Amino acid sequence: MNMKQKGDKITMLTCYDYSMAKLMDNAGVDTLLVGDSLGMTILGYEDTLSVTMEDMIHHTAAVARGAKNALVIGDMPFMSYQVSVEQAVINAGRLIKEGRAQMVKLEGGASVCPQIEAIVKASIPVCAHLGLTPQSINMFGGFKVQGKTEEAAKKIIDDARKIEAAGASMVVLEGIPTKLAQIITKELTIPTIGIGAGRFCDGQVLVYQDMLGMFSDFKPKFVKVFANTGEFMTNAFNDYIKEVKDGSFPAEENSYSVDNGIFDFINE
Ligand code: KIV
Repeated sequence: MNMKQKGDKITMLTCYDYSMAKLMDNAGVDTLLVGDSLGMTILGYEDTLSVTMEDMIHHTAAVARGAKNALVIGDMPFMSYQVSVEQAVINAGRLIKEGRAQMVKLEGGASVCPQIEAIVKASIPVCAHLGLTPQSINMFGGFKVQGKTEEAAKKIIDDARKIEAAGASMVVLEGIPTKLAQIITKELTIPTIGIGAGRFCDGQVLVYQDMLGMFSDFKPKFVKVFANTGEFMTNAFNDYIKEVKDGSFPAEENSYSVDNGIFDFINE
């Protein structure tokens, strides 16, 4: 909130493990989101719907161990908060106690306001998520940009007002037109973090595999590849295969040696 007031843009990246958390934290990324996108990026599912609380706690705890300065947000997976307010509070609590997250994220607007209120009442900060909310793809009919009609835009604005009133500390705006995200950002006092929501949000989030060019088959329009690490890694794997096969790896400098005399017993 201080950053929003000062006009400092907030940086957020998805993160799912310890070594990546250390790299991002050392680089100065403000916020690490252990998103349920890990279902797709790490576990190889088609969507995020199969991700469990156990998956989320496991990865959140690894990220929390690597992040010294960045705020760690743990995503609440599908069906961990929709059924009841009580379950929502219990599962949010698990992400804090077992996963060591400092904030939890859940998808939805007015329909999840009772959950947001109860989680905040339990002293757990909440990040909301509006627009293209991937846990609702079966309602949307796929990964489609949201808020493109007057009615749909009004609903998202209304949801944004309601989640702020319910006590959310931050909101991710995903897959909505730039103008709509700009209106919401101006209206809310809590920071908006955009992904496919244009440049007027208070911060931005990207899935790290996307911004590092690790997936070549599909690149959404909103993604910018900041470094082609996919190609870089593939070249390294190819070099490794070649050197192991031709015997040039491991070389002397990669091997341990002792005084050969200790092996005299072999010929005795
Ligand atoms: O699960 C996730 O990684 C997310 C971001 C893409 C915002 O929700």
